[in-house]
Amino acid sequence: MKIIGTGRAHPAKVVTNAMLEEFLDTSDEWIKERTGMSVRKVISDEKLEDLAIEASIKAIEDAGLKATDIDYIICSNVVNEYVTPSLSCIIQGGVGAKCACVDVNAACSGFIYALDMADDRLKSGKARNILVVAAEEPTRMVDWSDRSTCVLFGDGAGAVVVTQGEGMICSRLTTQSKTSCLYYKRMLEPTPYITKEETAGPMYMNGREVFKTAVLSSAKDITKLLKQAGLQPSDLKYYILHQANMRIIEAVANYLKLDMSYFPTNVERCGNTSSASVALLLDELHRDGKLQRGDKILMSAFGAGFTTAACIIEWTK
Ligand code: COA
Repeated sequence: MKIIGTGRAHPAKVVTNAMLEEFLDTSDEWIKERTGMSVRKVISDEKLEDLAIEASIKAIEDAGLKATDIDYIICSNVVNEYVTPSLSCIIQGGVGAKCACVDVNAACSGFIYALDMADDRLKSGKARNILVVAAEEPTRMVDWSDRSTCVLFGDGAGAVVVTQGEGMICSRLTTQSKTSCLYYKRMLEPTPYITKEETAGPMYMNGREVFKTAVLSSAKDITKLLKQAGLQPSDLKYYILHQANMRIIEAVANYLKLDMSYFPTNVERCGNTSSASVALLLDELHRDGKLQRGDKILMSAFGAGFTTAACIIEWTK
C-alpha cells in the first residue's frame, strides 16, 4: 500500500489544565510535568461520526479521488454512541461511498492494525482504494471525577486513503491478553435469564503498569522493525508514536539515543486521542509540508489488550 491522502478533524472545545483545576484536585504543574499535556480537545456538541466524516472527506479530497472510488472502509474505534451499526457504515453514508465497511477495535493500536489490514487487502487485489479512519472519543469512557484518568484524554478523528503501491516497508502486530491493567466495561440490557453478577463502570487504568509496558513494548517493536528493514535509528525522518504521555515518548527517544526532533508530538495540544493520535499527527505533518517523498517514517502504538502495532512506511505522496 501507499498513502495518497490524509485528513483530520478535532472537536471545537479546548479544555486547559486550568479549567480542570476548577473541579479536580490537580494542577497545571502536575499535569504538564507528568504528562506533557497543556490542553486537550474534547467532544461537546459534536458527534464523533461527524468528525470521522469530516476527516474522511478531507483525506479523499487530498487523494484526488471521488468517494465512489473508495472500495473498502476500515474504521478503528473503541467507543461511539452506536454499538451497531459500525462507525464505518455511518462514515460510508456521510462521505457518499458505496463499498464494504468494517470497524476494528485494537484500542490505541487500532489505526496501525487497520493500515496493516488495508495493506493485506490491497496485496490480495481485493481492493484498489481503501479509506482507513481512526475516530475516538475516550473522554466518554472516563470518570470525570477521577483525576488520574480524565486529565489524560482528548477526542478526534484522523483518516488516510491508501492505494496499491510500495509504501509499506514492514509491520509488526502483537497482543498479550493482559486485561486487568486497562479496561472499560459497559452494562448490557438485562434479560429474564441473566443470573450471573455483572459489573460496569468507567475506565480503569493502572497508570504505572501501562507506562512500563508501553515503553518496553514500543522499544522492542521499533528495534525489531529497524533490524528487519536493515535501517539505523537515524535513517528515519520521523517516529510517529502513540501520543499517550510525553514521558513515554522521551523514554523511547532516550532508548534509541535520538533527540526529540525525530519525535513530532501533539500530546501537549490534543491529549491522548487513542487510536486517532498517530493518524492526527500524520495529517498535521503532511499538511505542514514536513514530509517529503522518500522519507521513511516509523509509526508505533500500544493500547488496552495489551496490543501493540508498529510499521515503517515510505512517504510516497
Ligand atoms: N493531579 C494531581 N495528582 C495526581 C493526578 C492529577 N491529575 N493524578 C494522579 N495524581 C497523584 C496520585 O494520586 C499519586 O498520589 P499519591 O502519591 O499521593 O498516591 C501521585 O499523583 C503519583 O501517581 P502515579 O500514578 O504514580 O503518577 P505517575 O507519575 O505514574 O503518572 C500517569 C500517572 C497516569 C500520568 C502515568 O502513569 C501514565 O501516563 N501512564 C500511562 C498511561 C497511558 O499511557 N494510558 C493510555 C494507554 S493507551
